[in-house]
Amino acid sequence: MIQQTAREFADNEIAPAADAHNREQRFPLEIVKKLGELGFLGMLIPTEYGGTALGNFSMVLALEEVNRACASTGVTMSVHNSLCSGPIVHWANEELKQKYLPRMATGELIGAYALSEPDSGSDAASLSTSAVKDGSNYVLNGTKNFITTGADADVFIVMVRTDKEHKSRGITAFILEPDMKGFAVGRKEDKLGLRASSTTQLIFEDLRVPASQMLGEEGEGFKIAMHTLDGGRIGIASQAVGIAQACLDASVKYAQEREAFGEPIGKFQAVQWKLADMATGIEAARLMVYNAARLKDDGQRHTKEAAMAKLFASEVCNDIAREAVQVHGGAGYLEDFPVERYFRDARITEIYEGTSEIQRVVISRQLLKDLYQRH
Ligand code: CAA
Repeated sequence: MIQQTAREFADNEIAPAADAHNREQRFPLEIVKKLGELGFLGMLIPTEYGGTALGNFSMVLALEEVNRACASTGVTMSVHNSLCSGPIVHWANEELKQKYLPRMATGELIGAYALSEPDSGSDAASLSTSAVKDGSNYVLNGTKNFITTGADADVFIVMVRTDKEHKSRGITAFILEPDMKGFAVGRKEDKLGLRASSTTQLIFEDLRVPASQMLGEEGEGFKIAMHTLDGGRIGIASQAVGIAQACLDASVKYAQEREAFGEPIGKFQAVQWKLADMATGIEAARLMVYNAARLKDDGQRHTKEAAMAKLFASEVCNDIAREAVQVHGGAGYLEDFPVERYFRDARITEIYEGTSEIQRVVISRQLLKDLYQRH
């Protein structure tokens, strides 16, 4: 039922406007608000805080459908649920949960997550935005980079440095709001893909945040960030599956319609095999996403499986996007056909929430865990 609801909403409301939103670089606020009305922005939020508490497996079903129609809308939904409401549910005290979760569940508040900085991306633990304690406040100074939904979000989970002596253990997480004095949304990036999603810098200048806005304990921020990304990566993996499915759907349609040498190109084995390989890759990636989501719903460690799903799905998605353009020939290179957008949107899935190289680091460290613990 959840998949069906998401599919119909994606086909009827998201897809028809997706090209225009992306061409005009316009955030699909009205669509995101409707996702809230459907309960898709509170999928990880317990019912006592107004959420639907449907969990990660249901969420990846919905995310695949939304991303099939528009990856900009899809990343907004994924980040809101996994990277923002997720850590609040898991790490916030009761007061903060009451303050944010009910309004996040309805979509009144949209969430974002700020870890990366101009000088720290893959090496997230080297972040330098500082937070200095001053009475019952912390004073923040620094710049965050590449923040998804940066110009449009209302709630930000932000990792900052409270201790310079200890690298990963000197990081603390806070919940910030854009109307706090000293909080500025910086440059909006002009991107290859996901052009309807705003990606911005965030600049903090003597931003005073009450200690009561802290998520977890002081020094726990990196653990929170990594634990959160384990979930977020499942969301991005389902985004990759959604984009790949859109590529396949468009290619099947084109193969049936386009004629060459006197017959539809779908009659040629060269095209048939491309479609077969695309469908097989999608099926494998989708099952990896389902597996990681189920492990998370079961409360089992899913660091490795989430990284594997993200790595595999994003690489398969890019292979498929390239082949989808190839099936379309010159037409696939034009804005007139949707595969041009899918091809551009696919690329980021191998980069954000940890590059493919970082996923391989995460996977291999889990395999070699004993070695790491012994040395
Ligand atoms: N869960 C809980 N704790 C974890 C963890 C996890 N998955 N992974 C690591 N930790 C803990 C470790 O146990 C360790 O704790 P102790 O100090 O208690 O031993 C601590 O964190 C430090 O761990 P590492 O030594 O492994 O840390 P590292 O500095 O070597 O970094 C890394 C590991 C995997 C490279 C990490 O930095 C990383 O994932 N980098 C990529 C960052 C990333 O994904 N950024 C994406 C930005 S967000 C985004 O893209 C959102 C968007 O726009 C859509």
